[in-house]
Amino acid sequence: MKIVITYGTFDLFHVGHLNILKRAKALGDYLIVGLSTDEFNRDAKSKYTVISYEDRKEILESLKFVDLVIPEENWEQKVKDIQEYKVDTFVMGHDWDGKFDELKEYCEVVYLPRTEAISSSDLKKHIASTPHKRFERTETV
Ligand code: CTP
Repeated sequence: MKIVITYGTFDLFHVGHLNILKRAKALGDYLIVGLSTDEFNRDAKSKYTVISYEDRKEILESLKFVDLVIPEENWEQKVKDIQEYKVDTFVMGHDWDGKFDELKEYCEVVYLPRTEAISSSDLKKHIASTPHKRFERTETV
């Protein structure tokens, strides 16, 4: 069985998240998501989540491509996770291109293309400025 792992916050779950998880699962048989906790987001990434860790976890666990959700609590845990879960492939969006190449010592490392024109940050900005209007993926936020 080929085991794949990816990490992220997945706040305000959107189609870019769906696409990367679908593509990550297609690279193997079992997909693990390391889900950044609210504290890790706040303290290490200066990101404030709108949706709580518990709710983001429940959303991810309900997806058919996701087999297991584990907490991401620090930057250093990846090697331990890869070893503990016998991970074959580590996947991230290409916004992280090259940033995790040191993990190639432990498993295959793949960067997948991001879905164009959508992110949690764009959605947050859009809702704050024009809450009455649907978010169009052609707009620049
Ligand atoms: N991702 C993607 N396409 C997008 C947005 C995100 O492929 N349009 C991927 C990222 O590359 C990452 C994963 O989804 O591998 C989780 O990313 P996350 O940072 O949680 O989502 P963003 O929408 O990019 O959030 P933010 O705007 O807060 O950075």
